[in-house]
Amino acid sequence: MEGNAGNQSEVAVVTGGNRGIGLEICRQLASNGVTVVLTARDDKRGAEAVSILGSLGLSNVVFHQLDISNPSSAVLLADFVKEKFGKLDILLCITGVCRFCAQANNAAIAGTTRSEVDNPETFRQEIAGMDLMERIGRIRKHIREPYKQAEECLRTNYHGTKAVTKALLPLLHSSSHGRIVNISSRYGLLRFFSGEELKQELNDIDKLSEQRLDELSELFLRDFKDGQLERRGWPTEGGFIAYKVSKAIMNACSRILAKEHPSLCMNCVHPGFVQTDMSFQVGDLTVEEGARGALMMALAPKGGMTGGFLNLTEVAPFM
Ligand SMILES: NC(=O)c1ccc[n+]([C@@H]2O[C@H](COP(=O)([O-])OP(=O)(O)OC[C@H]3O[C@@H](n4cnc5c(N)ncnc54)[C@H](OP(=O)(O)O)[C@@H]3O)[C@@H](O)[C@H]2O)c1
Repeated sequence: MEGNAGNQSEVAVVTGGNRGIGLEICRQLASNGVTVVLTARDDKRGAEAVSILGSLGLSNVVFHQLDISNPSSAVLLADFVKEKFGKLDILLCITGVCRFCAQANNAAIAGTTRSEVDNPETFRQEIAGMDLMERIGRIRKHIREPYKQAEECLRTNYHGTKAVTKALLPLLHSSSHGRIVNISSRYGLLRFFSGEELKQELNDIDKLSEQRLDELSELFLRDFKDGQLERRGWPTEGGFIAYKVSKAIMNACSRILAKEHPSLCMNCVHPGFVQTDMSFQVGDLTVEEGARGALMMALAPKGGMTGGFLNLTEVAPFM
């Protein structure tokens, strides 16, 4: 993905661009000649990320603040892009709240949260030598899922992604080849839901509506609070419950919007288990490897897949 692919006039917005997979995507897009609007919720962290890329010789990256969980922030971003570029070619929604995070300021927004993991670095060292399944099992053992964090997970991963997408849709239509890439997760696949009926409903894109997805998001939170996950068929096994639901609803929303906007290409991508703060840096893929699928979709020529899902770089079902 390195090198200049002749995309000088293309403009991309990357959410959650200040670290992890988002920062790597900004680096590679800028290396390909795309003008990148790197967004982050924190001005200082965003400016630092732009300066890291600048020190690599990438001067085609600008910063704009975006807190994806605040809808007015998305509107301000859209105003900025409209004024500066008049269009948007690529939107990469990378932001996802962490199930685990090594940084104290992020611990509070996980769909799951650390309990015994008070020192993420010690924990990371402890599990780094284990095999992949052991690492995942150990991380899972250390999580709790309080309601407040579940709510924040839905607000950020689903409602936030939707709000920024909707705010930028008109600008994507001003491009001759508008693309949206949502970083999802295999945890958002419908196979993790315990009820067949709910699984089918979330897979029936012709019948589903955004309004119904909003309702489902509320129903999930109510069932979560009441300890009634099984009754309606939400995921019940294996932890990361709110994270799974938030990504599944986000996937369904992406499919609905792809259908409503056939002139755009809009796809979801599972990056793999990647070495970022979210995975305590113990994933089995580097950020460069984790960014591959998203970049493939972001830089795909006109007329490619829309409404689809990539597992790393392979097309896969949402089920
Ligand atoms: N790493 C994995 O193994 C893995 C696996 C499957 C899917 N994913 C998905 O990949 C995406 C990127 O994750 P990552 O691994 O790169 O995680 P990460 O290193 O923890 O980065 C998360 C990014 O999201 C930002 N963020 C969180 N809440 C935000 C908000 N309200 N507004 C704006 N930005 C916000 C963070 O900013 P701050 O620095 O301000 O916190 C950070 O830039 C996520 O969607 C995640 O669900 C990751």
